Amino acid sequence: MNIKDRVTDLIRNPKTTLPTLPVVTHNIIVTARSAETSAKDLANFIINDQAISARVLKIANSSYYGMSQKIDSISRAIVVIGFKEILSLALGMGVLSALSSKEQGGLLDVAELWKHSIAVGFAMKKVAKKTGRASDESTVLVGLLHDVGKIIFSIYFPDEYGEVLKRATTDETPLHKLERKILGLDHAEMGYRLIERWNFPADIAEPLHHHHNPSECPDGHMALVVNVANLIAHKSGIGECCGNGTYSDHTVLSRLRLHHDSVVALAKELESERAEIEGFLEALS
Ligand SMILES: [Fe+2]
Ligand SMILES: [Fe+2]
Repeated sequence: MNIKDRVTDLIRNPKTTLPTLPVVTHNIIVTARSAETSAKDLANFIINDQAISARVLKIANSSYYGMSQKIDSISRAIVVIGFKEILSLALGMGVLSALSSKEQGGLLDVAELWKHSIAVGFAMKKVAKKTGRASDESTVLVGLLHDVGKIIFSIYFPDEYGEVLKRATTDETPLHKLERKILGLDHAEMGYRLIERWNFPADIAEPLHHHHNPSECPDGHMALVVNVANLIAHKSGIGECCGNGTYSDHTVLSRLRLHHDSVVALAKELESERAEIEGFLEALS
């Protein structure tokens, strides 16, 4: 069986030991999909889960949100930070804990990958602001999840992915293209299949799926934003992770009406937020 078929089997076969989301995270996703759900129903999941509540408060009080007064209750955090943003954080925590529970063979420096992923989330907010579009609450979550496919490859296909990563050190081909060449699918496709199985909504799944080929995304704006944010995060040097050759082609920048100088300036700005990014990861994990 080639890797692509093995991935299909991994995703479809209920007997495989694919990481499972914590029950509360799964319940939040399923409940959020129902039309009759109110914000109060969803808030209850967070309020009733001590581990999530504690971490949400830690993030709410981190320098990222820059609050002058201490936030000491979830209801206060919901007012100050916004309910949907807190929901996104809770989902991010669920994914982080699902994937951290699996042994992944040491191919990747996972802490660095998460740092890169948070940097992408932060950069997405900057790009959205710069291009005159308000970022929505799922922005940081898309950034956080965009490269999860790499973790799945390293857990389930360590030999083959080790080969890809080894090639990436000497080959200038962008990592996602090397993955396609050697494995038959790239980490964006892998991550998409995983979060689809986890029932994540399309506004998160689609930009993740197309973060290296945003022009193929049906509603492409968020995919363009994550594509450029990925470039900015790499330029900032925060959370160095495997592979090389991350680039955004000029059509991406022109579709966002973003000049290359702005990309460089945003990367500099992001670089100065390293401590906030590290604090965010610390609070999240
Ligand atoms: Fe990627
Ligand atoms: Fe990335």
